[in-house]
Amino acid sequence: MINVTKTYLPNIEKYKKYIDEIYAGNKITNNGPLVKRLEKRLADYLGVKNIVLVSNGTIALEIAYRTLGLNGFVITTPFSFVATTSSLVTNNLLPIFADIDERTLNLNPKNIEQLITPNTSAILPVHVFGNACEIEEIECIANKYNLKIIYDAAHAFDVKYKDRSVLNYGDISTLSFHATKLFHTIEGGALIINDDSLVEKARYLINFGIENAESIPHLGTNAKMNEFEAAMGLCVLDDIEEIKAKRKTLLDAYKKELNGLVTFQEQNKNANKNYSYIPVVFKSEEELLKVQKALNDKQIFPRRYFYPSLDTLEYIEPKQTMPISRDISKRILCLPMYSELTNEEQILIIEILKKSL
Ligand SMILES: Cc1ncc(COP(=O)(O)O)c(C=O)c1O
Repeated sequence: MINVTKTYLPNIEKYKKYIDEIYAGNKITNNGPLVKRLEKRLADYLGVKNIVLVSNGTIALEIAYRTLGLNGFVITTPFSFVATTSSLVTNNLLPIFADIDERTLNLNPKNIEQLITPNTSAILPVHVFGNACEIEEIECIANKYNLKIIYDAAHAFDVKYKDRSVLNYGDISTLSFHATKLFHTIEGGALIINDDSLVEKARYLINFGIENAESIPHLGTNAKMNEFEAAMGLCVLDDIEEIKAKRKTLLDAYKKELNGLVTFQEQNKNANKNYSYIPVVFKSEEELLKVQKALNDKQIFPRRYFYPSLDTLEYIEPKQTMPISRDISKRILCLPMYSELTNEEQILIIEILKKSL
């Protein structure tokens, strides 16, 4: 069976050495030494100032909203993983959707300004599939109306925009380190906080709001990463260049072989790729379903990322209709891409696609 992705598992002996270290130190969570070590290594590797590790990418978003004290309406994209929207709703924030650009698949900045009201507190764009957003245009609007920007950068590990980390833009960027991601810690996530003065608050918020033994000044939660997760991250980080190189080879082959048959995401010219996903857009949903069936018949399971469009979620009020996002959601598939995918398997996938189209 071939799935859209397969978790990268690093060398087990290396991982066991970290487990021995954890046992020897008898500290398995609560900001332990491996979490601190991973924070330091990630800050250096990614080229960011302040990184706070947490237990997943969804809680990273929630902590970002609370750190910035958001309220009211947040302008966001309807084309993303459900957590982008649901994290707003669970924090009593109302998602206001701005439709996407059908080429880049990112929130189209041209659709933002008309949605701003006195109740708007922030913009929450997503670097979809690791493709950097139109950063300057979004910043310009946020500055004009004094809005915060949180980038959901769950897919944008190690993406550079104009030669610096894309995570350095906006007020806060969040990452997901889920097992399916390019870089992972089993479950995990992070906040990249650009204003130094907010880092301490975020650290309190991930630990129940506790400041010290006598004082709990913030309404916090439990969002801590544990030592076993940090150990996995330290191992995967050692191999990240190799992982990216293999994915680049796969992505290049898909692009070469499927060119003209499907549409690929248009990449931001000022940013590099991180090879995290290979989304392809078909001419119609019928065509997608035909390809999907042909692949499924051979035990190959691509994923309909992202489907359905988030403006169709039943719990969103007021109802909003985003035609471009709805249309793309029906016609897009992410093809299998992971380090262990063999050339033979990829050739088989490409052949099935070519035959069905
Ligand atoms: C765009 C986006 N945002 C947020 C998340 C949530 O991350 P996590 O699964 O680590 O909670 C994901 C997860 O895949 C995602 O794709």
